[in-house]
Amino acid sequence: MKVNHNFANIAQSYLFSTIAQKVADYTAAHPDAPVIRMGIGDVTLPLPQASIDAMHAAVDELSHQESFRGYGPEQGYDFLKDAIQAYYASHGTQLESDEIFVSDGAKSDVGNILDLFDQDNTVLVPDPVYPVYVDTNTMAGRKILYMDANESNGFLPLPDPAVKADIIYLCSPNNPTGAVYDRAGLKAWVDYALANQAVILFDAAYECFVADENLPRSIFEIEGAKKCAIEFCSFSKTAGFTGTRCGYTVVPLELEFEGMNLNKMWLRRQTTKFNGVAYIVQRGAAAVFTEEGVKQVQEHLDYYRENARILADAMDELGIWYTGGKNSPYIWLKCPNGMESWEFFDYLLENANVVGTPGAGFGENGKNFFRLTAFGDRDKTKEAVERIKKLLS
Ligand code: MLT
Repeated sequence: MKVNHNFANIAQSYLFSTIAQKVADYTAAHPDAPVIRMGIGDVTLPLPQASIDAMHAAVDELSHQESFRGYGPEQGYDFLKDAIQAYYASHGTQLESDEIFVSDGAKSDVGNILDLFDQDNTVLVPDPVYPVYVDTNTMAGRKILYMDANESNGFLPLPDPAVKADIIYLCSPNNPTGAVYDRAGLKAWVDYALANQAVILFDAAYECFVADENLPRSIFEIEGAKKCAIEFCSFSKTAGFTGTRCGYTVVPLELEFEGMNLNKMWLRRQTTKFNGVAYIVQRGAAAVFTEEGVKQVQEHLDYYRENARILADAMDELGIWYTGGKNSPYIWLKCPNGMESWEFFDYLLENANVVGTPGAGFGENGKNFFRLTAFGDRDKTKEAVERIKKLLS
């Protein structure tokens, strides 16, 4: 038996597990410390009432023989796919039902999609980057190229025609930087992908935070994208499904490479390796798109947006450079006084009892940056801001 030695090339633990361990060690040593967690982008508001009601009703359905359901379609029930299709249409993007694949979340699909691609492909990711893109490809032994995202390009790198890549990862609104591509930026990437026969894996997990009508929510708003892109989306940040688990992936019917149809390949992959998302959960997700659901989700998003504004205002007051905070739940700030990000992590934890995410965990270009999330409780966000201001002013 031979193991996959590529695992020796990834960090020993996943970024957010490392942070959780550090915080656990700190709280064990200081059990009374009033620690405020603004590290992992996990939501704090409960599920929308519309989803809760729909899930209760679904449990009741499963409790009666006449309405019981066993295995569902691996790619999701029509009631949910129809709702997703209508959501895209409401933003001007037409999708076929067969292009939508319901899943247990964007993170799983971003990793699983790699089953479709040969190991001998070159991957292009921005630096800093959501670690899942890098770790999953490193596990598979693929070559990874990095593009510079930095202060001077507002953490929104554009394609370099001299760089040849096959699989390109884009995330907008971006995790970790909160930066959002405009249409021209995404068009440049679509044009690059079409010219290079490359595929774009577009992570749209944070699209619901886009409030500016001029900014794209989906790569499919860009002409030509259906010939070169796959989009990953999630109910986690939209409707608080981080623990409930539901997302969807859009694989265009016309996406073909080397005579192989990626939509058909993904269908084949999912029907073989996946038995679909729980009926109860899909009912809860579909309720997000009902009139009541839409209203409740908007209230939740407004709550988190206000947290983001409070954080951004504090950075403005302190004169700290940052991206995000608008159209995004993340604030990506430059560590003060030339500190490196893990140093700032310890400084903030020890002196303000506030947990954030060190930029170095997202790549070399993050080593002087730090991420705070707006997904926290309002009072705790305000308290964290007061402590940060006291410490840094
Ligand atoms: C994050 O904090 O970056 C996210 O919660 C990670 C994720 O969605 O998997």
